[in-house]
Amino acid sequence: MELRDQLESPLFTHFISNYSQPTGPDLLGRTEEFFQWQEARRQTGLWPYSRSLESAPTPEGGVRSETGTSRQGLNFGSQDYLGLSTHPEVVATAHRAIEQYGLHSAGSAMLGGNTAPSLMLEKALAEHLQMPHVALFSTGWGAGFGAIVGLVRPDDHVVLDALSHQCLQQGAAAATQNVSRVPHLSNRAMRRKLQEIRSKDARNGILVVTEGLFSMDSDVPRIEELQSICREFSATLLVDVAHDLGALGPRGTGSLGAQGLLGKVDLVVGAFSKTFASNGGFMATRSPAVRQFVRVMGGPHIFSNALLPIQAAVVLEALRIVRSEEGEALRKKARENSMALRMAFAERGIECLGEPSNVVPVPVGDPKVARLAAKLVFERGVFSNLVEYPAVRLRETRFRMQVMATHTTEQARQGADVVAGAIEEARRLVKSQSRSARAAALREERAQAEL
Ligand SMILES: Cc1ncc(COP(=O)(O)O)c(C=O)c1O
Repeated sequence: MELRDQLESPLFTHFISNYSQPTGPDLLGRTEEFFQWQEARRQTGLWPYSRSLESAPTPEGGVRSETGTSRQGLNFGSQDYLGLSTHPEVVATAHRAIEQYGLHSAGSAMLGGNTAPSLMLEKALAEHLQMPHVALFSTGWGAGFGAIVGLVRPDDHVVLDALSHQCLQQGAAAATQNVSRVPHLSNRAMRRKLQEIRSKDARNGILVVTEGLFSMDSDVPRIEELQSICREFSATLLVDVAHDLGALGPRGTGSLGAQGLLGKVDLVVGAFSKTFASNGGFMATRSPAVRQFVRVMGGPHIFSNALLPIQAAVVLEALRIVRSEEGEALRKKARENSMALRMAFAERGIECLGEPSNVVPVPVGDPKVARLAAKLVFERGVFSNLVEYPAVRLRETRFRMQVMATHTTEQARQGADVVAGAIEEARRLVKSQSRSARAAALREERAQAEL
């Protein structure tokens, strides 16, 4: 059957959330229904996830779908914002680190897993963020989750920006039942929420959680105001700078640097996986006590093996480049690419969301249009991630394109042309199909009436 004839089937009308709460005693067997639905999407080219790169995360290369289809083309789906994962000096550093320290950290940071590069990295990050005490984690996820779980106890409260990353949401849920969410970027709502909590509970802690750059919307909170609201209500502010540190702000200091707030917020967590050419993450604080407490009480730091020496060395070298003139030039180039992409979409009538950054959210809206468009985009050799409900609201389905400093502006324009063209084509198809479905329903109604 043609895809156009299946627009009302679960292939297009169901979401992961339709399958995420199975019930029944058979924990394994009850995964089957989701699998069948996912498999149907996979086999029809409508499952644009879990692809693999066939080269380094460079602007052009090969991508392979889960069903084994390979395509060569333009890559707007990698998180290597300044292109440092293939930078010759970063690669040379990685080789040297292997020779000197071997491949493995061979222990948690608590139990002998620290290495000379990891100690140097803690110091360098402390200086970069003007936060003298840094703890490393082996993933960015672990840093966000671990900082919250480390500090918050069941009687405390966590208030999150509603669009906070899952590592923060799950950290909050694991730490306490007193979790609230306030509308995205609304400092006013945050103030009201803190006032409400404090009017009832003066004895326990409140952790307020936000991000330096929201990665689905490419927008930024007013952090100074948020920090002062937190002070007013004796709350603690945590900012996750996974997407902006290194990629934005003067000398790559991210949104904190751009807003003149280096060293001025309570807690900073982040990930190395977007700009620093490695997996891993960190928490930074002004307090030696907070650092030691979270290291020992924050599960992932103590109960998971430490960052590899090769990763620490790579991040350290990436940070050196981030802070250099070269880093400034790479950020400028990434911004030009982001603007070129945004402009090319605007010329085709699509206004991208948020502010210019390496993340360019391209709104589609209708999930059916988005799934069809994602299939066309891949077939036409552009790799861009589709973000669907429940990761975003139902009618806010979007492509999240990610530009790197290593793209050319011409590639950005080409990428936009392919994605915009696919969205237009998919929209036409869905519209004509629903028109003919309506006409068929009308004919049916009339035929029934004549009987
Ligand atoms: C805000 C934020 N925090 C943490 C993470 C997790 O980082 P990592 O993928 O490096 O573990 C991400 C990554 O998607 C993120 O966007």
